Amino acid sequence: MKTSSISPIQRVLIRRSFRKVARHPDLVAELLYNRLFEIAPACKMLFACDMQQQGRKFIQFLAISVVSLDTPEILIRAIQELGQRHSRYAITMADYQQVGEALRYALEQTLSEDWTPELNQAWTAFCDFIAQTAVMPIN
Ligand code: HEM
Repeated sequence: MKTSSISPIQRVLIRRSFRKVARHPDLVAELLYNRLFEIAPACKMLFACDMQQQGRKFIQFLAISVVSLDTPEILIRAIQELGQRHSRYAITMADYQQVGEALRYALEQTLSEDWTPELNQAWTAFCDFIAQTAVMPIN
């Protein structure tokens, strides 16, 4: 798995857009999980927790990932460890992709007219990278 699947321009777009949405972490997380439970209702039962706290953890993880876009070893390690912590839920690639889809929906809603096809492509590349790395076993 290589971060080269996310181009340098896409990294800039991801960083810039994340800076804007990071001002509203609770809103983004709420939009994300509401959307996820709409498109993948079966996921809901996995979350026996305080969803506001969970949302903050998710956005915090995303913040660390965005900051680490130019340091692949750190980014890959962090995502693999996240994947390992999620392994007890028997999550598949398709589940990760649905989270990616829900995240892009939340970003689009938050950024409104600032959400562009280029941003959508950049975040799709990033979400796919997270999904593929998370399901990869740690060696
Ligand atoms: C982009 C992909 C994902 C990210 C960034 C992410 C992030 C996180 C984070 C940061 C936590 C807090 C605990 C920890 O750090 O391990 C967490 C917990 C959790 N995640 Fe994810 N996650 C992702 C995908 C998924 C998927 C696909 C599912 C299932 C459909 C899922 C289900 C859960 C559950 C059930 C918890 C524990 C909630 C509790 O405390 O009971 N996650 N996730």
